[in-house]
Amino acid sequence: MTMSDKKCPYAPTQLTMGNGAPVADNQNSMTAGKRGPLLAQDIWLNEKLGNFAREVIPERRMHAKGSGAFGTFTVTNDISKYTRAAIFSEVGKKTEMFARFSTVAGERGAADAERDIRGFALKFYTEEGNWDMVGNNTPVFFLRDPRKFPDLNKAVKRDPRTNMRSATNNWDFWTLLPEAFHQVTIVMSDRGIPASYRHMHGFGSHTYSFWNEAGERYWVKFHFRTQQGIKNLTDDEAREVVGMDRESNQKDLYDAIEKGDFPKWKMYVQIMPEAEADTVPYHPFDLTKVWPKGDYPLIEVGEFELNKNSDNYFVDVEQAAFAPSNLVPGISVSPDRMLQNRLVNYADAQRYRVGVNHQQIPVNKPRCPVMSNHRDGQGRVDDNYGSRPHYEPNSFGQWQEQPDYAEPPLKIDGDAAHYDFREDDSDYFSQPRALFRLMSAEQQQVLFDNTARNMTGVPDFIQYRHIRNCHWCDPAYGEGVAKALGLSVEDAMAARDADPAHHLPSCL
Ligand code: HEM
Repeated sequence: MTMSDKKCPYAPTQLTMGNGAPVADNQNSMTAGKRGPLLAQDIWLNEKLGNFAREVIPERRMHAKGSGAFGTFTVTNDISKYTRAAIFSEVGKKTEMFARFSTVAGERGAADAERDIRGFALKFYTEEGNWDMVGNNTPVFFLRDPRKFPDLNKAVKRDPRTNMRSATNNWDFWTLLPEAFHQVTIVMSDRGIPASYRHMHGFGSHTYSFWNEAGERYWVKFHFRTQQGIKNLTDDEAREVVGMDRESNQKDLYDAIEKGDFPKWKMYVQIMPEAEADTVPYHPFDLTKVWPKGDYPLIEVGEFELNKNSDNYFVDVEQAAFAPSNLVPGISVSPDRMLQNRLVNYADAQRYRVGVNHQQIPVNKPRCPVMSNHRDGQGRVDDNYGSRPHYEPNSFGQWQEQPDYAEPPLKIDGDAAHYDFREDDSDYFSQPRALFRLMSAEQQQVLFDNTARNMTGVPDFIQYRHIRNCHWCDPAYGEGVAKALGLSVEDAMAARDADPAHHLPSCL
């Protein structure tokens, strides 16, 4: 529905105040005399402006700009031998869901068509609780350790002095982290600006786990493949799109669903038996690495379509609270350090951003009974479990735990220490090298040119550092980026000893 053919679907209404009392005058404030000052007893004016001042809730710290829609997930292949999750129990089974896609670095009012990774967050309302799959449109991430996440956020967001985005901050940080190189290569590639949310794949990225009725555990990676085809924008096209329409992704998704052209994604999993994690030649819980599909092929699971726009953006999309800790029996986590931290950080952020009772908001509310015995708190809108005994154990059968749903034990060992993850699989370049060599000559040139444009204004020593990283990955990559920057690989190598970074990893 466009603005021009917009018809109001509601019957006429009569204005009241928040307490339900009629508003007699919504045009003229009450003043002392015709030209005199306002009166404090104008209670509607006070209430209206008071509410106005509190309309905005904090934006998400990352992924602030996003678009969402409701949909349906359908199982198309039986994977119940890997997981006891009710959502996958039989072929043909349908589960209602909500999806939100987002850019990462931009604020709530940022333009959509920016070079950035995209968030890909799904909430499945299963009968055994909400399962949230909070992923991205890339299979890897910049970091391996959550300690660096706030630094990443600072590096890609605004500079504290200029309040502008800073390519220097961005590239200084990225080039000092060899683990970021794989993700940086993807972001600078021809896939760095998806043409729309409908035209990109999604990935759980982390290794998660499945466990089945027999108590067997499998490591799992989730993939969501767009059925609309992959489409991307070049830097030039994106500039033009942003010049015409800052909401290009929102408009594309909203209009497609309004027209009945429902976007679809197929869900696949890669499955690794638990014991194989000890034998694969790469770190299976390292978020900067993929599992080669030759080793672990994609297994089809199902398909979801998005088929209903929200009637109110704030209520559903802005208040949506996706958390990797929203798991259900049969789907669980892995030892990935990044994922482990996300299990804490999202719900914590949401208690601040949306409130302690955010799980009661309709978009977040499970469609199955909830008996958490969390009580009270700001914004409690249900019956608060009435007069049930509010402690456990009790003599009245309330709040009984459900041992049938216990996850199989996971063997862990080790002494507590700050282990340097770089000493555990420090191969940062093989996978981006393979990716680089898969690109056609034309795609490689796009990568060089995107990188050079993105590094405009960045000091030479940081450009040299990136050229060296590209060179370690593949000499042709180093050569291509150096040329696009108007520099040389030889000068980049010679500049290594003069690099002012106090924390230059030995592999760089
Ligand atoms: C949003 C933290 C890594 C995907 C957020 C939010 C926080 C956060 C605090 C805002 C949550 C809210 O207010 O609702 C972190 C931390 C990370 C991390 C601490 C690493 C330790 C990742 C990774 C992915 C990811 C690896 C993808 C694989 C997302 C998405 C959203 C988000 C999609 C937006 C969800 C939505 O649409 O509401 N992140 N993040 N994040 N993050 Fe992360």
